[in-house]
Amino acid sequence: MADKFYITTPIYYPSGKFHLGHCYTTVLADAIARYKRARGFDVIFLTGTDEHGQKIEAKAKEQGVEPQRYVDTMAADIKQLWEFLNISNNRFVRTTDDYHVETVKHVFSALFENGDIYKGTYSGKYCQQCEAIFTEQQLNNGKCPDCGRDVEDFCEESYFFKLSKYQKPLQEFYKTHPDFMAPEARANEMLKNFIDVGLSDICVSRKSVKWGITADFDPEHTIYVWIDALLNYISILGYKNQKYNDFEEFWPCDLHLVGKEIMRFHAIIWPAILMALDLPLPKKILGHGWLLMNGDKMSKSKGNVVEPRDICATYGIDSDAIRYFLLREIAVGSDCKFSDELLINRINADLANDLGNLVFRTVAMIDKYFLGSLPQQKQADNEVDLPLKNLCLSKKSKIEHYMDEFDTQKALKEIFEIVDAANKYIDTTTPWALAKIEKNKPRLASVLYNLAEAIRIVTVFIAPFMPTTAQKIAQQLNLTKEFTVWESAGEWSVLPADLSVLKGTILFPRIEES
Ligand code: MSP
Repeated sequence: MADKFYITTPIYYPSGKFHLGHCYTTVLADAIARYKRARGFDVIFLTGTDEHGQKIEAKAKEQGVEPQRYVDTMAADIKQLWEFLNISNNRFVRTTDDYHVETVKHVFSALFENGDIYKGTYSGKYCQQCEAIFTEQQLNNGKCPDCGRDVEDFCEESYFFKLSKYQKPLQEFYKTHPDFMAPEARANEMLKNFIDVGLSDICVSRKSVKWGITADFDPEHTIYVWIDALLNYISILGYKNQKYNDFEEFWPCDLHLVGKEIMRFHAIIWPAILMALDLPLPKKILGHGWLLMNGDKMSKSKGNVVEPRDICATYGIDSDAIRYFLLREIAVGSDCKFSDELLINRINADLANDLGNLVFRTVAMIDKYFLGSLPQQKQADNEVDLPLKNLCLSKKSKIEHYMDEFDTQKALKEIFEIVDAANKYIDTTTPWALAKIEKNKPRLASVLYNLAEAIRIVTVFIAPFMPTTAQKIAQQLNLTKEFTVWESAGEWSVLPADLSVLKGTILFPRIEES
């Protein structure tokens, strides 16, 4: 039986236009999920929408529609965006789905019954955007410490979750599971800013918010949207509902991928809830950095967003180019600037010039010199061929190492070293000169075969990052499934010596700046 791998993105607030920053979490999760599948894992890849709470209620009101209508439209829009970006999630949760509501109600009642939730009065400062309540001390110059917006006074009869009770068990857990949070700097930040200063109980219900899941034992209260949202990770596996039946097999989650501003909810509150439910904790929370526009987080409220479908239309590029940019440019865990110039440079240099040209030239030469079919000839044992062959064969374990650390930037760098070496191999072997002399034809066939092998290996490696491009190359080089299984990227001479190719269109046209 295949090993299981369960990976999640945060569930998205359907509160406006989705932008390239949002897409990063999901594209990164997709590359990891595809890589794990290629390695033979049985993967559940979950994403979804976080549809309750005051923010959504306000948005719907602004548009003059019922909240349910509003979220239905927005959920359909985000599903289209994920399709456009070729996201291969096999589960999609909506927090308004019946089975999810059933789980949330059950858990909230269970926590109340075992004394982890109690009634009190809460006063503090509330940030509507983040749906989070802060103490005066937690504010940053009187503003929300997460998003910098204004906060409002909040005082209501509420239910509280005894987070303070889990301070010690959490500290113990972090100590015994040093890999639980990544990257390390983010883990230290969590410990220093939140855990070490002491955890306070948190308010987990609202009387004044109507658009939410009501507590069964006190229907005047709706459940705090973060408690509702975090439970999506187990409701989708069928925990305390009948819709799915995968909890035993897939929990605990292997990887919760989140942006750094919501690390706190995932690394502190979520584990505490799971402890209160006596459930195992996730294996890893990875907090990635932000995509920045002019030094600021790309976000709708700042009016600096880039919509991926718009940018593809503007530059005539496909979604693989966007995926490549995000996965190559952003070092996992760090912030990264976005500009049109950076995007254009990446695409032109790596995709149009290097990868696109390599495939185009190789296929065109097989087509031109051998009418599309190589003669039976494969030699890769001289001083020019061997370095290329050895370089290709050295990459699989390195790429696996980086991908097992979820470091797509380093993995892609390794892959593009093959592309670079193969282009240089063309320059060194000068196939066009070999073609001029009949007796050099066997050598020419070997050279082109070696290039085809290098491209085959690149195709296997890039498939998790650029699935459509991998498919297009596979078509041109006639790479049927058996030639593109992951394991075959660690072998040479896999393709038949009499390989036939099919000339196709250019993979990545250069973007000409106007
Ligand atoms: N609904 C909550 C998550 C609940 S999970 C139980 C939420 N939603 S969100 O729509 O605001 O954000 C979704 C993801 O997009 C988060 O991981 C967030 O960090 C990411 N990003 C939003 N803007 C971003 C950038 N500018 N750059 C990178 N990622 C950012 O939070």
